[in-house]
Amino acid sequence: MVKVTANDIIKLKHAGTPIVCLTAYDFPTAATVEEAGVDLILVGDTLGMVVQGHDTTLKVTVDDVVYHLSMVRRAIARPMLVGDMPFMSFQKSDEKTMANVGRMVKEGGAEAIKLEGAQPETLTRTRKIIGAGVPVMGHLGYTPQSVHYFGRRVVRGKTAAQAKDILENALALQEAGCFAIVLEMVPWQLAGLISRALRIPTVGIGSGVECDGQILVLHDLVGFYRGYSPKFVRKLADVTGAMRDAVQEYGELVRSRRYPAQEESVALTEDVWKEVSRLEKAAED
Ligand code: KIV
Repeated sequence: MVKVTANDIIKLKHAGTPIVCLTAYDFPTAATVEEAGVDLILVGDTLGMVVQGHDTTLKVTVDDVVYHLSMVRRAIARPMLVGDMPFMSFQKSDEKTMANVGRMVKEGGAEAIKLEGAQPETLTRTRKIIGAGVPVMGHLGYTPQSVHYFGRRVVRGKTAAQAKDILENALALQEAGCFAIVLEMVPWQLAGLISRALRIPTVGIGSGVECDGQILVLHDLVGFYRGYSPKFVRKLADVTGAMRDAVQEYGELVRSRRYPAQEESVALTEDVWKEVSRLEKAAED
């Protein structure tokens, strides 16, 4: 097993091999996702929605991401582990940004970080983070931390002006040293154009098949999220249904005393039982 690095992710693009990325937020899920053979695992701030039950990603803290990173870290060896920089963790100052990146890497075990947007300060901080030896993944198109600006899950890049802006930002992130860029909810033709214009890979979510790789939120993919499911999500399993069926069956078994069975219980030896059963008689007298 060879550990996947940022360079390997770039090489996959140049080999024409689509890059398989997914989120994972806990130990058993991450172990399963690795077993299934992904290249990159993101501990994204969607954990605020699919795990914590908030309706946006904005409440997620650096502590939250570090906590989930450390669970995933213990479970995986091969895939590259990327930690998402939550809202306001990289906007305040260079010092705070670097301290937060340090926590993600040292405490959480992240091998790279992802941050949204390409503001001038974001580009400067991207260079500093890479200068400290930590690979950075960009995120353009729909950026969920700007939900109150863009609205909820809105396609970006539909006008020529927006498309030009996203392309320019992608080139700027590449110039700043990013090893990959997530393109979220961008029209497929624009995603294809950007993917061809860049040396580094694009990783699409709702941005069509011409991206160099794809990422989805695992909870969406396996049917374990009750919130809104956008049209780009392909639900390949029904974990909610499977779990509900199992719990319902458990309830029926418990109520009908068909669980636990003898073989699922521990028995006393005959001798001990003889002695202990006297206690029951004594208690009755
Ligand atoms: O937090 C997340 O899950 C993400 C993906 C949507 C790329 O940023």
